[in-house]
Amino acid sequence: MDNLTRFSEFSVTPLVGSTTKWSCPSNIALVKYWGKKSGGTQIPANPSISWSLSDLKSTTNVSILSQGDFGFEFWLDGKPKPSFEPKLTEFFQRIMEFCPWLKSVKLKIESTNNFPHGTGIASSAAGLGALSTCLVDLETAEGQEINWEKVSFLSRLGSGSACRSMFSKPAIWGESSTIEGSSDLFAVEIPSTVHSNFLNWEDCVLIVDAGEKSVSSTQGHSLLSNHPYASARFEMASRNLTSMVGVLENGDTKAFIEIVESEALQLHAMMQTSVPYYLLMRPNTLAIIEAIWKFRESTGLPLCFTLDAGANVHLLYNCEKKLDIMNFVEEQLLPYCESGRYLCSSIGGAPKRIANE
Ligand code: PMV
Repeated sequence: MDNLTRFSEFSVTPLVGSTTKWSCPSNIALVKYWGKKSGGTQIPANPSISWSLSDLKSTTNVSILSQGDFGFEFWLDGKPKPSFEPKLTEFFQRIMEFCPWLKSVKLKIESTNNFPHGTGIASSAAGLGALSTCLVDLETAEGQEINWEKVSFLSRLGSGSACRSMFSKPAIWGESSTIEGSSDLFAVEIPSTVHSNFLNWEDCVLIVDAGEKSVSSTQGHSLLSNHPYASARFEMASRNLTSMVGVLENGDTKAFIEIVESEALQLHAMMQTSVPYYLLMRPNTLAIIEAIWKFRESTGLPLCFTLDAGANVHLLYNCEKKLDIMNFVEEQLLPYCESGRYLCSSIGGAPKRIANE
């Protein structure tokens, strides 16, 4: 079956009045997606792997308001949010051929994030993940299993990294010769069992800069197409993905830390060597990284940092020594956070249906 046929299948045409509500977690990449292949829509240049962040999530309600030409209203936190409409319009244009029933309905989309706006935490992965889950749920007959591959496929067309938010185990997106079933079109769960060393981790996001990024991820990805180090980076990421899958299975925490931190620094090195170059780390990003290295060296505790495309630092740690680590955060890292803010989340979690009140 070709992909158009495979992802165009649905079991019911949603009727006016149909409604559904789902939450979806955000995710943090351990091996980063940075750069797209040319000639496709949202096809990653290298495979990536991420952990879902169950406590940083979007909740979205989608209802069918009326029949007629396609249209939608988008509400965020109870208020209409027209600034999100262009991105959503593009998303719907991309997915229309896979959900043809959309062509004749008007939708109301109501979304909330459980993390505050203006923390520099990207809401697109969780938001598009929740929206895609609602759309696939609406077209799924009652009692039938949701097609999570299709949810991941659709959400990828809205925001690449969103396609990894559907799985409570680590999720891999992008074709890798070493991972059977991996695909550029959707994410899959890691095929192996995750070692107990990695079952009890958390992510504490240290808010260094709550403002808008000077260069968006979309612009950042596009700068890879003419980047002097792109092919070396893509090869390295593919190797790191294979190593990371092995590490998550064999429980080698030291190797985990090395890959995660190296990936974060490579992501930012690519930004800093793009043409034109740019810098998203702030002085406090570096101060936090150095404090984490010093603390790890003196205590030997399993913790490390990673970064997404911004100045905030994600502190990943094994919860066994949570008290020590939270003391370290409070005493040594908070002075570097904007308004002393940080947000913690457990690792794992997948979309959840929210019962109608
Ligand atoms: O999904 P996008 O287009 O916002 O890109 C996300 C890129 C990174 O967060 C920097 C890395 C990743 O793999 O999530």
